[in-house]
Amino acid sequence: SNLTHEIHFPAEFSSNPNQTHLSMLINVFRIIRKSQVAEFDQVDVWSWREKQVFDAVMVCTGHHCHPHLPLQDFPGINTFKGKFFHSRDYKNSEEWRGKRVVVIGIGNSGGDIAVELSRMAKQVYLSTRRGSWILNRVGDKGVPFDMIFNKRALLFLRLLSVGFLNKWREKQLNKRFNHKLYGLQPAHRVFSQHPTVNDDLPNRILSGTVSVKPNVEEFRWSSVVFEDGTVEDDIDLVVFATGYTFSFPFLSSHAIPASKNKVSLYKYVYPPGLEHPTLAVIGLIQPLGAIMPISEMQARWAARVFKGLCKLPPMSAMMKDIKAKEEAMATRYVAAQRHTIQVDYIPYMDELAKQVGVCPPILKLLLTDPRLALNIIFGPCTPYQFRFHGPGRWDGARQAILTQWDRVDEPLKTRCTPEPQSQRSSHSLIFSVSVAALLSALYYSRASLHALIADPSSLLDKIRAFVPLPLTTQ
Ligand SMILES: Cc1cc2nc3c(=O)[nH]c(=O)nc-3n(C[C@H](O)[C@H](O)[C@H](O)COP(=O)(O)OP(=O)(O)OC[C@H]3O[C@@H](n4cnc5c(N)ncnc54)[C@H](O)[C@@H]3O)c2cc1C
Ligand SMILES: NC(=O)c1ccc[n+]([C@@H]2O[C@H](COP(=O)([O-])OP(=O)(O)OC[C@H]3O[C@@H](n4cnc5c(N)ncnc54)[C@H](OP(=O)(O)O)[C@@H]3O)[C@@H](O)[C@H]2O)c1
Repeated sequence: SNLTHEIHFPAEFSSNPNQTHLSMLINVFRIIRKSQVAEFDQVDVWSWREKQVFDAVMVCTGHHCHPHLPLQDFPGINTFKGKFFHSRDYKNSEEWRGKRVVVIGIGNSGGDIAVELSRMAKQVYLSTRRGSWILNRVGDKGVPFDMIFNKRALLFLRLLSVGFLNKWREKQLNKRFNHKLYGLQPAHRVFSQHPTVNDDLPNRILSGTVSVKPNVEEFRWSSVVFEDGTVEDDIDLVVFATGYTFSFPFLSSHAIPASKNKVSLYKYVYPPGLEHPTLAVIGLIQPLGAIMPISEMQARWAARVFKGLCKLPPMSAMMKDIKAKEEAMATRYVAAQRHTIQVDYIPYMDELAKQVGVCPPILKLLLTDPRLALNIIFGPCTPYQFRFHGPGRWDGARQAILTQWDRVDEPLKTRCTPEPQSQRSSHSLIFSVSVAALLSALYYSRASLHALIADPSSLLDKIRAFVPLPLTTQ
């Protein structure tokens, strides 16, 4: 960026400000509309301020803007003698060696922190008001789970009843460990909640270092009372892994109103009420899959809209789309402020790709390049699929798809493993030859079968004549 040469840095940074310093310095303070363009005020923590005018803005402030710390739901927290903080302020487990800890919330933060602390702390209590299904990152045969799950071929499952799919998935998860036995089983179904992914949690529960508890009823000095009446004394630390909220304090309040994490954006990107589509929000989604490829696709779309190469529909159509998505989410998910921006990876990627004009041409490929088409349908839906044609086309996309499993395998090949194959095959060869020899012996001796059965020792002698090792007595 040329910016570093054009602005005046505070003395501490004046020597040679690098990118890191820059990102620490600049804070978007206010974005206001000025006729047809957006105008920015920027301010840094040292009160240096500069105003610049831009043609368009992408807001990429994420959805973990503010820690959600619902202390009002926890009576007596003010009397608590130990320490408490939000999961965002958790840095490491070292200082909690030998301590007794309560972690509240069983999202991915709660699960990860409980597991990590359990290796250091004396005891960790993981409190959940609702319970959770626990998914594993390591899929069947050790393959990363999203490489198995995010496949176009599996989209047909959407045709099946949701009840059946829930039952099937819950059965699979309970096969790994019984969620009821481990105190984790929720009342809601598996697809009604943003997944908590944790390979280690069942292990920590089994070893007793993490105990699953219900919601906290109240705090009493250094004790924590749970809703089932149990009390844990001498608690040193409480980690509130209770999630995040987002907002856009640098925008005028009507530009993107956000309340309890609910926000009205066309395909989670565009505020529908703007006169000109010069403001786009990137990354304000919670996908079942990785967020990065989706954010990239949103940015590709936004760039084209800013340049006037893609048009947005009229406001009424945008509102209809927003409403339909809200209703679908309300039907599918447990009502909670953590379920307001949920998207399914492939359908949402395709939806955006359609806007950009980069959907993979599967039908055409089935005729012209069936090998590639089958990889697209039955292989993991990696972002290369959206680079075959249209803006941002990449010649390497085909090869990248055909070799993507190599890049899963390669980092795991850290030790040459012995090949047991040859030994096994030599045994099975001997076995096959032996069976063939035995059958041949019987076939050629069929005329004198009766005599042979009457005299088993002569039968054995004959078999020995045909069969090598396994049947010979040493
Ligand atoms: C503990 C944790 C683990 C996670 N692990 C995964 C994972 O394994 N896989 C996954 O896909 N996702 C994971 N996520 C979700 C993860 O947050 C997103 O995938 C990713 O960080 C989103 O990137 P982002 O750039 O959209 O937002 P962020 O990474 O949140 O970045 C937003 C940036 O905007 C800055 N900002 C905010 N306000 C302003 C302002 N007014 N002016 C200037 N800058 C501002 C912030 O300082 C921040 O640097 C995890 C989240 C958490 C909290
Ligand atoms: N390893 C990873 O990939 C990783 C790690 C950390 C975070 N993340 C991501 O970061 C995002 C945030 O995750 P998060 O775990 O911090 O937050 P989260 O997913 O919003 O989970 C918050 C948890 O706190 C509970 N909770 C909220 N308010 C509560 C209250 N008043 N009383 C009791 N319980 C309450 C919620 O319960 P209810 O369900 O009942 O509302 C939920 O269990 C997610 O997208 C997550 O996937 C990913």
